[in-house]
Amino acid sequence: MSKQRIIAIDGPAASGKSTVAREVAKRMNCIYVDSGAFYRGVTWKMIQEGTNTKNSVLVLPVLLKSKWNFKICNGAVVFTIDGVEPGEALRGKEVREAVSDVAAMPAVRTYVVNRLRKLKKLGSLAMEGRDIGSVVFPKTPYKFYLDASPEERAKRRHAELVAKGETEKAQEVLESLQRRDQKDSSRATAPLKIADGAYVIDTSGHGVEEVTRILMDRIVDLEKPRTDKMINPVWYRMTCAVFGACLKVLNQYKVLGITNVPKTGGVIIASNHASYIDPPAVGASSRKMRMTHFMARDTLFRNLLMGAFLRRVGVIPLDRERGDVKAMKTAIQLLRDGASVALFPEGTRSPDGTLQPAKPGIGFLVAKGNAPVVPVYVHGSYEAWSKHSGGLRCKPVTVIFGQLITQEEIRGLGSGREAYSLIGELIMKRIAELKENFEKGLIHE
Ligand code: DC
Repeated sequence: MSKQRIIAIDGPAASGKSTVAREVAKRMNCIYVDSGAFYRGVTWKMIQEGTNTKNSVLVLPVLLKSKWNFKICNGAVVFTIDGVEPGEALRGKEVREAVSDVAAMPAVRTYVVNRLRKLKKLGSLAMEGRDIGSVVFPKTPYKFYLDASPEERAKRRHAELVAKGETEKAQEVLESLQRRDQKDSSRATAPLKIADGAYVIDTSGHGVEEVTRILMDRIVDLEKPRTDKMINPVWYRMTCAVFGACLKVLNQYKVLGITNVPKTGGVIIASNHASYIDPPAVGASSRKMRMTHFMARDTLFRNLLMGAFLRRVGVIPLDRERGDVKAMKTAIQLLRDGASVALFPEGTRSPDGTLQPAKPGIGFLVAKGNAPVVPVYVHGSYEAWSKHSGGLRCKPVTVIFGQLITQEEIRGLGSGREAYSLIGELIMKRIAELKENFEKGLIHE
């Protein structure tokens, strides 16, 4: 029997996820599940019963007494409610306008999420929705988030409606879609958001075939032997323990905000750099978080023993003089594989302890790695061991992990070269804020 895959495809209305999910299901031998149809089903039933779809108290009796039956038809899950198959009625205007309110009701969400989870027993699934990767199947490695601008999505939805003979105007469709987007992403329970570790695909200007290909390539990529197996966990933990202990004794080493580092999915840990102490100080915090790959200048690998050690603990050699394509490719692949990569955006140690601008490569890496960023400020390392001090001093060192810079925020900066430098600036700005807040005493244990 082939391996069971749960492919979670989330995104806003008309982002192209239904067509792509159907296509992926067909090609990867999965059962297609339209989770939105379940919320539409509950809404349809409430309308049938004459129940006010804005009243969350009235929904419970409808849920309790209705009987749902499921079957697979043409590779997709379909259902009847109390013996009736709602079919096309689920797509009608009445249901369409009411469904966001119904889908926001916690009782409805619990009911639907449970039903969706039970479908796992049918085998491999390609399930599309809003919270499949974040709530329904948060553990699946196959998480996708499809997006497109509201205008592009409204254009697609309008064309679909026209093809069905409906007469809504393009502007009305755009407004209705924006209303739903707003409700879906601002509701308290399971709002629409990019799930941790989800792979974001902007479908604007891309055809179904192209998006399907990107998604399937990603699945193949995920199934390749993982590159972060390059870390030897025993060596890694031992190194962190030794560094951590030395720093504690010599530098009153403290780590704050470690819970800001997501436990799974690709992530970039971006720290300021003023001292040789920074890599071990940030690295030793990984004792309390996940294993992380550091990028370090390749000259450190020249010594055979040192090189062997660095490789064992997962350090990626980086040629700082030339744009190191190989190192970038390795880091991007690691991020796509769901690993954690730490780097120093300023490139080299600050000459005077002040924060320096980010090197251009960092924005490129963040954009291509498709991963969120945790900004980190290492306080006191310059005083403890600066470029000019000639050795280690027993000054206190504190590592502060800041709030995640999300993929949404990064994508909001646009694409291409201009965006790369904006990404670098944003990261350094967040590090500067951490520095300021820490120095003002606003961040503490
Ligand atoms: O994908 P759709 O347009 O058929 O979804 C109908 C509604 O249900 C929409 O308002 C979003 C909501 N929904 C949800 O909240 N969670 C899901 N997993 C799927 C849909």
